Amino acid sequence: MKVIVAKDYAEMSLRAAEIVAKQIADKPDCVLGLATGSTPEGMYAELIKGCEAGKVDFSAVRTVNLDEYYPIKPENDQSYRYFMNEKLFDHVNIDKANTNVPNGMATDAAGEGARYEKIIEDLGGIDLQVLGIGQNGHIGFNEPAEELDPITHLADLTEETIRVNSRFFESVDDVPKQAFSMGMKSIFGARSIILMASGKNKHNAVAKTLEGKITTLCPATLLNLHPNVVLICDEDAYNG
Ligand code: F6R
Repeated sequence: MKVIVAKDYAEMSLRAAEIVAKQIADKPDCVLGLATGSTPEGMYAELIKGCEAGKVDFSAVRTVNLDEYYPIKPENDQSYRYFMNEKLFDHVNIDKANTNVPNGMATDAAGEGARYEKIIEDLGGIDLQVLGIGQNGHIGFNEPAEELDPITHLADLTEETIRVNSRFFESVDDVPKQAFSMGMKSIFGARSIILMASGKNKHNAVAKTLEGKITTLCPATLLNLHPNVVLICDEDAYNG
């Protein structure tokens, strides 16, 4: 795993945006795997600036998002579809028909998993996957567990994740308890991956990942098995 330590959140965001912009320049119709949450927001803002300046062209880019809460309607302002529209898609020249987020209203979980995997396959796989990391080491909503799911599935969120994510909701009771998430195989199919981390509260998960050993109890550690991962973190996440 290659490691880039940026001095702060702003520099981490810039470095990550540069990698995404280069991917788009190298392959204008590339497939980007995207994440939501606080971590990539600054990177999306940088990409919007790049697009406005005519330096980044999203017109042929295709995207697949990692996850979506369940149950949630896409127009709900807590949905990850809403987040992506608001933080990126509405501000760049992407064709929304080329953007994919799991269906948070799908009642047939296995069917939704299979449908989403088919989308990824039909796109020719993911060129560059952007990941954040949970304080507990989750990636996507692949939560620490003895066993992990390979493909897109309906995941139960841990109490810790529900608590951490409650900052976006009025109360902890409003946080959905489940989410559709790409699985480890879906993520590992990406030709390259950037793992982003910012803040002291991510230090333990980052340090565990950098130890190099592998455990499903910290799913990010499995990224040590992928041949093309760049960790971009700030000094707080790196040093604690
Ligand atoms: C979001 C996702 C999650 C987040 C992780 C970190 O699509 O898949 O794994 O990346 O929970 O969240 P933040 O960035 O809010 O700290």
